[in-house]
Amino acid sequence: MSVHLGTPARRSPRPSVLPFPGRRPSRLPLSAPEFSGTELDSVRATLEAGWLAPAGPTPAAFEAAIAEATGFPAVLGTASGTAALHLGYRLLGLQPGDEVWAPTLTFVATVAPAVQMGAVPRFLDVTETGWTLDPALLAEELSRAARRGKLPRVVVPVDLYGQACDLDAILAACDRWGVPVLCDSAAALGAEGRGGRHAGRGARLAVFSFNGNKIVTAAGGGALASDDPALIARARMLAMQAKEPAAHYEHETTGYTYGLSSILAAVGLAQMPGLAARVARRRAVFATYAAGLPGAGFIAEPAWGRANRWLTVALFDPARGPDREAVRRALDAAGFESRPAWKPLHLQPAFRDAPHAVGPLPATLFERGLCLPSGGGLTEADQARIIETVRGCGGD
Ligand SMILES: Cc1ncc(COP(=O)(O)O)c(C=O)c1O
Repeated sequence: MSVHLGTPARRSPRPSVLPFPGRRPSRLPLSAPEFSGTELDSVRATLEAGWLAPAGPTPAAFEAAIAEATGFPAVLGTASGTAALHLGYRLLGLQPGDEVWAPTLTFVATVAPAVQMGAVPRFLDVTETGWTLDPALLAEELSRAARRGKLPRVVVPVDLYGQACDLDAILAACDRWGVPVLCDSAAALGAEGRGGRHAGRGARLAVFSFNGNKIVTAAGGGALASDDPALIARARMLAMQAKEPAAHYEHETTGYTYGLSSILAAVGLAQMPGLAARVARRRAVFATYAAGLPGAGFIAEPAWGRANRWLTVALFDPARGPDREAVRRALDAAGFESRPAWKPLHLQPAFRDAPHAVGPLPATLFERGLCLPSGGGLTEADQARIIETVRGCGGD
């Protein structure tokens, strides 16, 4: 595990309205929403134009802003990132008994809709750099699966904590067998992969989340994006209860209520122009932690990518200092929320029977990893107190 040191970057200008305008909560959340200050105007303009429903100009403008930021030509705003994943699985024809392959180190939502559709998840290991799906292992496992005669229906890499996975290598492995890739970029808005391309770009479908703790938050919401407008048109129809174009309600299949409301889209839309500055602030928060906690380990950013540093995860090795629970409890007592890194999915009781190809790294990252308060509006005074509290636990 590499220790990533950085010099504290100079902070970019703060948003005009900090999180919790006018007051600071007694317990600072892990990823407080950052307001742009224009959300109310955006919501007011939407309401004054007579829109509430998941239709009309505001969701369309939000989708256009996501398309511009990510480079995906076709984008559908959805009620959540999980809804976008569900639509993605449906579009890729997932059937009961099919396999869905994902890295073990991720949030449950990556595979939850697939499991609910009757698919079998298979969990794979992650790389030491970036902690994302290991493309070499994936290639080996795909060859083995081809020999068994059961390839996965979908491979779902994850841009973990805003660090882009090695999508080019993952696509090369999957293309060989014609397996489509649905990239879970839920936390990676504003992150870059190889060649400066936006995270998720190149996958058949990619998913983004705008839930309450993301870098851009619409309070709740997500997006499904693709290079293929026909796929997104089909997703749009399924997200609206699969209504056929007729005056009456005509359905050739069944769908969902997965559209993004105009109000939530208005909040997200107000924040999109500040995306680059939001990423810069999160990266500055990361650099300050890395410089202030030289004894801890951090996710090393591969030379070819640029993480958005949505959450900073610090590793605490109990052989050299305090364990992560001691640090978490100390931060809690000091009024700061922190949270253990993802518990690997192959260790979750819900997936106890799931096949997996995983070494010891994900379990170690879970045992040692702690997500530190990472909101872009974190004040220098609060971050200094967090670092002091961690150092006070000993070992640093
Ligand atoms: C990796 C990952 N996938 C999917 C999701 C689900 O997104 P949502 O909360 O918008 O449903 C999240 C949300 O935190 C996530 O972190």
